[in-house]
Amino acid sequence: MPAPSEGARSRRIGSTRRQFLLGGAVAGVGAVAAVGADLALNRQSPESAPASVPMNGDETVPFFGAHQAGIDTAAQAHGVFVALDLHADVDRAALTRLMRLLTDDAARLTQGTPALADSEPELALAPARLTVTFGFGPGFVGRAGGEAPRWLAPLPAFRVDRLRPEFSDGDLLLQIAGDDPLTVAHATRMLLKDARGFADLRWTQQGFRRAYGTERPGTTMRNLFGQVDGTTNPQPGTADFDDVVWTGDGWLAGGTGAVIRRIRMDLDKWDRLDRSGRDASVGRTLANGAPLTGTGEFDEPDFDAQTAIGFPVIPQFAHIRRARGDGSERIFRRAYNYDERPLGAEVSESGLIFVSLQADIDRQFTPMQQRLDDLDLLNEWTTPIGSAVFAIPPGCRDGGFIGDTLLT
Ligand code: HEM
Repeated sequence: MPAPSEGARSRRIGSTRRQFLLGGAVAGVGAVAAVGADLALNRQSPESAPASVPMNGDETVPFFGAHQAGIDTAAQAHGVFVALDLHADVDRAALTRLMRLLTDDAARLTQGTPALADSEPELALAPARLTVTFGFGPGFVGRAGGEAPRWLAPLPAFRVDRLRPEFSDGDLLLQIAGDDPLTVAHATRMLLKDARGFADLRWTQQGFRRAYGTERPGTTMRNLFGQVDGTTNPQPGTADFDDVVWTGDGWLAGGTGAVIRRIRMDLDKWDRLDRSGRDASVGRTLANGAPLTGTGEFDEPDFDAQTAIGFPVIPQFAHIRRARGDGSERIFRRAYNYDERPLGAEVSESGLIFVSLQADIDRQFTPMQQRLDDLDLLNEWTTPIGSAVFAIPPGCRDGGFIGDTLLT
């Protein structure tokens, strides 16, 4: 499988440019000048660093464009998801100020430039493919006086749900993702400082995949059950992906719909299931993610194949059979793992920050989730404990701001 298209979208910034950018930040922000100048004097000179070693920290993903970055960007190692609740007095004009501020700093930080009033400008210098993606909840669109797509609402209740408010809903989403956790933490803090006069933190979720460089780019991620997760996904850069993900409607044209569900995975219970049971629950092998009817990860599953005694090789209850249905609903998954240390006797408090992107949540996601709610053996070990829906507006051009199609 080819590596997703990040090569085309990522760029490197050289040491010289970083030095220049730091100089710019120092000139622009008086309070920061002393720190910045100190750093500029003390940092290793570009000449003394081996020029041939490419640094992942220097990689950037363009911020401006038709679509926001962080959707079709090959998933970075770390992802932080933050949902904010708008203050009661925030009106359309205030939303415009907020989104201008956030856009401006997100554009800087993603290109390895400190935020406008960056309190730790040194931390901004290694962007490591940082992306910031904004999403609007129903409350945001209502406050903006815009017309919300009909799917921009909490999902219907499902039997499997055990939703907690501290992981659900919200007016404004920030997805901050990058290959370096320090860069991500810094960007998150800078953006939350921008937002604090306008909104309160509702929830935050931290997720991870393999560290940068651990596996070849393009390798499908594994979740904490050990499963290869994300094989059957539309490929960014294809017409198929565009069709599944981007919407063409009104102010949201060039944007998409995001479902973010925190799904707890009961690893302690999963421990009690043998390997063949684990494979059967999904319909694919843990070894390499091949369907039970094939040998390679990307072999097409044969849902009609039967065992010698007439049972389906991919069981009726298997997750991939249930998720696929007749194949008419498609989504793009861009999940992250989470792993917290529990306080009690259990060993694990782990799961998936399940992120699904699609042009129309009602048409594409909900029927699929309904099928999984009706029957999916994986439900034995998984429980959704958080759920939120956001409209991800399109990208913007340099000089514009994210949300400008809604707010201007
Ligand atoms: C913790 C919960 C979940 C786990 C551990 C999980 C795991 C997996 C695994 C291992 C696969 C097979 C490889 C692949 O194609 O990615 C898969 C496929 C898939 N999953 Fe999930 N999944 C979860 C939740 C969900 C949810 C909530 C949905 C949507 C409502 C979903 C939709 C899909 C789809 C569409 C496929 C591809 C099916 C096909 O082959 O056409 N999954 N999942």
